[in-house]
Amino acid sequence: MSRKRLEGKIALVTGAASGIGEEAVRLFAENGAFVVVADIQDELGHQVVASIGTDRVSYHHCDVRDEKQVELTVTYTLEKYGSLDILFSNAGIIGPMTGILELDVNGFDNTMATNVRGAAVAIKHSARAMVAKKIRGSIICTASVAASLGGTGPNAYTTSKHALAGLVHSACSELGAHGIRVNCISPFGVATPLSCRAFNLQPSEVEANSYAIANLKGIVLKARHIAEAALFLASDESVYISGHNLVVDGGFTVVDRSFSSK
Ligand SMILES: NC(=O)c1ccc[n+]([C@@H]2O[C@H](COP(=O)([O-])OP(=O)(O)OC[C@H]3O[C@@H](n4cnc5c(N)ncnc54)[C@H](O)[C@@H]3O)[C@@H](O)[C@H]2O)c1
Repeated sequence: MSRKRLEGKIALVTGAASGIGEEAVRLFAENGAFVVVADIQDELGHQVVASIGTDRVSYHHCDVRDEKQVELTVTYTLEKYGSLDILFSNAGIIGPMTGILELDVNGFDNTMATNVRGAAVAIKHSARAMVAKKIRGSIICTASVAASLGGTGPNAYTTSKHALAGLVHSACSELGAHGIRVNCISPFGVATPLSCRAFNLQPSEVEANSYAIANLKGIVLKARHIAEAALFLASDESVYISGHNLVVDGGFTVVDRSFSSK
């Protein structure tokens, strides 16, 4: 039998009803964790829980744009499972697909409220619980290759993911004193409902497009690969890693393809 890397740990995953978050919930549960699935898509969230089929995984409605809902979700996690060891702050939206010349201010604000402020309040309430219980927890945020490279996403999204990387650095510096680690993961393009909707493409078409511009060939990036990175950062295998941006992009952001394609 394979070793369970999160045996007995309690995890809260936001944006957990689909895509990367859903894969992380499945992988965390397979590895022995108790998991709260938090999302705004209630029906999908309940389906994820039912398909896993254990009371070690449960659903709680949580819109990360509303601090009170985030606080209540952390309280629910503590009451249901008794503690909180891992926050995977993964909820995110692509936001308006426009650039700076057509800036959609409301869409920009909504993207920041979801991708940045949502993560900040999730870290706030989760870390408060960890500090109160003296838990040396692990906090992981889903950033993006757009957190470090312009031109890989629309304007509001790229801005929000750069800000998220800053939030991770800041939270890492503050929470280290409490033994809490804070990291982020930066995926390259993965076929999920988010990317399929953004480009109005089928999953196979998103994968083909990503593969065409990828640096690493012979493998197609899947949500499961991102979940594996989250599992590593959630587990004790990464016990001295904090403030790190684990880029899961097959080398995309460190290679200038205008040279390598010649
Ligand atoms: N798919 C990619 O190519 C890609 C690449 C880099 C980073 N990411 C990031 O990965 C994360 C997960 O995205 P995904 O690709 O799995 O997309 P997805 O749409 O499948 O999953 C995102 C989930 O977040 C939820 N969500 C959205 N707004 C929310 C809110 N206000 N409160 C709570 N939940 C909310 C959605 O309901 C959905 O279940 C996002 O942060 C995204 O920016 C995705």
